[in-house]
Amino acid sequence: MLNKRLMASLLIPVLLTVSGCRTTGGKSVEELVTTPQSELENRFPAAWVELGSEGASIARVLTVDMSCPVLNVDGRTLPMNIRGTRTEAFNITTCEATLPAHAQLVLLSKYRLPVPSSDPKRIVVIGDTGCEIKEDDGKVSVQNCADSEKWPFAHVAQSIASVKPDLIIHVGDYHYREVPCPKKYSAKCAGASVGDTWASWKEDWFTPAAAMFASAPLILARGNHELCARAGNGWFQFLDPRPLPAACTDSVAPYWMTVGDHHIAVVDAADDKNMQSSFDTLKPNVSGFTWWVLHRPFLTDGADDELSKDASPAKLPAPWQAPGLLSAVITGHKHLLSLNSFPKNANPPEIISGNGGTTLEKPKTDNQVMEAVQTADLVSLNYFDYGFLVFDRMDVGKWQIQAMDRDANVIATCTLTEQAGVRSTLNCKPI
Ligand SMILES: [Fe+2]
Repeated sequence: MLNKRLMASLLIPVLLTVSGCRTTGGKSVEELVTTPQSELENRFPAAWVELGSEGASIARVLTVDMSCPVLNVDGRTLPMNIRGTRTEAFNITTCEATLPAHAQLVLLSKYRLPVPSSDPKRIVVIGDTGCEIKEDDGKVSVQNCADSEKWPFAHVAQSIASVKPDLIIHVGDYHYREVPCPKKYSAKCAGASVGDTWASWKEDWFTPAAAMFASAPLILARGNHELCARAGNGWFQFLDPRPLPAACTDSVAPYWMTVGDHHIAVVDAADDKNMQSSFDTLKPNVSGFTWWVLHRPFLTDGADDELSKDASPAKLPAPWQAPGLLSAVITGHKHLLSLNSFPKNANPPEIISGNGGTTLEKPKTDNQVMEAVQTADLVSLNYFDYGFLVFDRMDVGKWQIQAMDRDANVIATCTLTEQAGVRSTLNCKPI
């Protein structure tokens, strides 16, 4: 079978004729076919590919036009359909199209969208990325959205692109701009768009995430910031991979996909009350490895800060407690990186990647951003600064996980070992 690069080089003369160019001028395909970040960005403010139920590859494009563009997929046209309705709050046209299986070269005008790999070797995990402007019980929390040191999501997204992932998983909480910027904080957030609107989604997610959109397809989990009472309409309009529901709902069934030799269940954990019923519907797979991807952790004590300290929003159902059936739980919600394994019970490792950009949890010890915990029940490595995770597939059932800081420097490494019938293990050490 032709590899992607060779296929692209064979197709490009035809596609260049279509787009009106005459010569490659000695430039590579990558130089000629870039993603929509330059002259097209005013017409197409965002374009990405995400994976949905049964692994469907869905191209989404946002456009200021009233109609949708036509994609070019491996030399054939693919019309896009309008998703939802343009409204005052969402005054942008959302377009979508399901890509054919094994698509190699997807073009929006002359810009290239990333296509899914059938066997991704490098997977990035990031979560909890928006710039916090919110109010809880009269207490206002404001992050400095204008300072890339204080809200580094765009920088983290560029670092993610620099490691050239095959797939990116976002574990939820994209939208944090909830209340108007208080006057006394105008140095931090004056002029920020707020509320569940296209303008605030653009500032919190679509603009800073552009480098990620250009680099790999996405799996997108829903966070509690995307509850219907918060930014749920934007979640369904822009990001949920399934058909648009008639109205926003917080009771949403999980969906499955197969990625390489892994089954991935994506659980909507925006509402903690949706978790247990979702878990109970998931049937264990007899072959291959399984990961659950969801926003809220549930295996570590105090993982859900909206409940009492020792409460868990859900439990691992009995059918899943047999060793090896579930080899990792991948979450966010806590605003740190937390790599957890449980020596004494049947739980799989719980990997919390919630340090992508929003206000961080404070280190338990002043200025001590790395914390190792080892008890009889829990082995944990925590990192209280910004960054993301890189999973590299080393062999069947073996992943090296690199914890990166915001600049893509490695700050810790782990080995995740998966084996049928055996509880998976996660061994981590700081650099
Ligand atoms: Fe959250």
